[in-house]
Amino acid sequence: MTYKKIYFVGFMGSGKSTVGKLLADALGMGFIDLDDEVVKRQQRSINAIFREEGEDVFRRYESELLKEFSVKEGLVFSTGGGIIGSERNWQIMNSCGVVVFLACSWPTVLARLEGSSERPLVNQNDLESLKALYESRQELYRRADVQIDVDELTPEEVVLEIKQKLA
Ligand code: S3P
Repeated sequence: MTYKKIYFVGFMGSGKSTVGKLLADALGMGFIDLDDEVVKRQQRSINAIFREEGEDVFRRYESELLKEFSVKEGLVFSTGGGIIGSERNWQIMNSCGVVVFLACSWPTVLARLEGSSERPLVNQNDLESLKALYESRQELYRRADVQIDVDELTPEEVVLEIKQKLA
């Protein structure tokens, strides 16, 4: 079976990279982790980009790479958790492929992000702000074509469910 491009969206810690890579392998498609691509292109960490140029500039780099890679065929994308904040990004994803939301409850997100230091928006001393960000984005993630509730599933089970829903 051939698929259009597949874009994983969801909050930090929802498993987009793990599941995206597994699905790409299962379908014989290529895999792009947009965060990794930004880091490669900029030759610095996401933390450094936020610190040196700010979030808006990071968002610009992220959108540029989304656009650039969306021209290619046969790719599964893991996007950064904030990709859903831009209408332009939605236009690109909706016109090029299927958007899959990995929905993860707040307690699960919290447990998975415990100790995370490589994400500029995760401040372990201010988890209330992170929760507010999580809540403010849920409606946007739900614009996706497909939603998978991942809390109780292994990555392999998530992949199976996606394959069924996309079949
Ligand atoms: C962000 C999520 C991160 C990364 C950046 C900003 C966000 O990606 O793009 O730190 O705004 O939610 P992951 O969702 O892959 O952690």
